[in-house]
Amino acid sequence: MDFPKHIAIIMDGNGRWAKQRGLPRIAGHREGMKAVKRIVKFAVNLGIKTLTLYAFSTENWKRPKDEVSGLMNLFCEYIKKEIDEVISNNIKMCVSGDIEHLPKKMLSLLNHAIEKTKKNNGLILNIALNYGGRDEIVRVTKRIVEKAIIGDIALNEIDENLFSSFLDTYPLPDPDLLIRTSGETRISNFLLWQIAYTEIWITSVLWPDFSEEHLLEAVEDYKLRKRKFGGV
Ligand code: FPP
Repeated sequence: MDFPKHIAIIMDGNGRWAKQRGLPRIAGHREGMKAVKRIVKFAVNLGIKTLTLYAFSTENWKRPKDEVSGLMNLFCEYIKKEIDEVISNNIKMCVSGDIEHLPKKMLSLLNHAIEKTKKNNGLILNIALNYGGRDEIVRVTKRIVEKAIIGDIALNEIDENLFSSFLDTYPLPDPDLLIRTSGETRISNFLLWQIAYTEIWITSVLWPDFSEEHLLEAVEDYKLRKRKFGGV
């Protein structure tokens, strides 16, 4: 198999990393942010085309208030601190998720970063924020029905291609490789439509400890796989 063009990562285990050290959970997220920087840099060097990172799910609002606000502050901090480096590394930033319901300050920072990097043609860094696979499918369905009601879309035009074109990730290709850290073997509502034929690689390494070597290991494992997409 060729090199994966699109890698998606469920960055799990920040809380456990902190707990093992007797630190507050947010300290784990902060260390997780360092891993994000490391992996983004490495993805640029490896020449990966697209990297999608699951940063905050539609279910993560259920966490304690201070953890949620701590995470939102970290995301803002990341964008503010990293934007210059993102630009100089020719990275194009985008987001997937129900972003309209994110805090206003964060939304404007995100929109600024997207605008500033829209002409870049290196790594596409797609951050999944307030993202849920089921939520995305419901939002797509609503938009298609809206258009069908006013006659912009006919029933027989609705197929997988048309549906895909309304996804948050459009026009990105589906992920070739999905990595999940911290040993959990769940999908956790991530890219449900897009991962129909994605290869999955799971490691027990906690996200803050995830390094360049682990990413390489995942890529090497991917390259050995035979993808059949339902064929023989
Ligand atoms: C899951 O670990 C991690 C998250 C919900 C947050 C991910 C956020 C970061 C890595 C911070 C920076 C991100 C960006 C994009 C700048 P968990 O808290 O569920 O860990 P646990 O299962 O061990 O409790």
